[in-house]
Amino acid sequence: MPTVWVLGSLNVDAIVRVERHPQPGETVLGGPVDIRFGGKGANQAVAAAGAGATVRMIGRVGDDADGRAYLDSLRRHGVDVRDVRVDPRTATGRAAIAVDAGGENTIIVSPGANAAVDTTDLEPLDAVAPGDVLLLQLEVDLAVVAEAAKRVSARQGRVVLNVAPYAALPPDVLDLGDPVVANESEAAALAAAGATPGELLVTRGGAGSSWGELRVAADRVADVVDTTGAGDTYCGALAAALARGEDREPAMREASAAAARSVTWSGAQPDPGNRV
Ligand code: RIB
Repeated sequence: MPTVWVLGSLNVDAIVRVERHPQPGETVLGGPVDIRFGGKGANQAVAAAGAGATVRMIGRVGDDADGRAYLDSLRRHGVDVRDVRVDPRTATGRAAIAVDAGGENTIIVSPGANAAVDTTDLEPLDAVAPGDVLLLQLEVDLAVVAEAAKRVSARQGRVVLNVAPYAALPPDVLDLGDPVVANESEAAALAAAGATPGELLVTRGGAGSSWGELRVAADRVADVVDTTGAGDTYCGALAAALARGEDREPAMREASAAAARSVTWSGAQPDPGNRV
């Protein structure tokens, strides 16, 4: 079975529930702080492993208790972390997340060790085999993301490029995405930048997702608890299905179902092991 490689971020998320998000300059009171594992890269790795893929993660944590606990948690989820470096010079990444009564979130990321990821971290990609999938997001250095995409494409690997959080990438990098995955605001940012990736998959939350002309409805969820990481879960499950050789439509259906399940729990990753 082809491997899903994930290059990306690992954060510890501090989640606070609020009735509504504060306006700039405003203070609101929230609930207790819930500390959980997150980061778009690791969330996607966990989702891909949960969908049955063989997953190798590339990234960095700090040489601290959070980082060590995170590696243990990823191992429990079945993610191969031999290529996650422990960086002695910086702390594990963190994110401050507010979740409102409707389950919608706002997120501030303090990158920590994620910002130290450089092209020396990409050496394991020399082991990529044709048919493997590289799953990318944009919480590590964009030049490293671009280099990883090029190396894996050159080895006949498939690149799934999630442009989250949105940042401008050169057209030749976007064209390596098969697909580029964007939510509606990221897709609008791509369009505003004049970027037209050859293969664009747009996720629209409860309104489903589209890949070119193909439309897939979202699974209905009665009680949304927390949408944090739903897009990551979609990407991870999609990559797992594509690595198995699924066609686009069944892969999107599996990704939609996984994303729908993910909004029924608090935090970006399922238990076990999603609490620090
Ligand atoms: O997509 C959700 C993730 O974004 C959170 O887990 C947070 O760490 C940020 O990376």
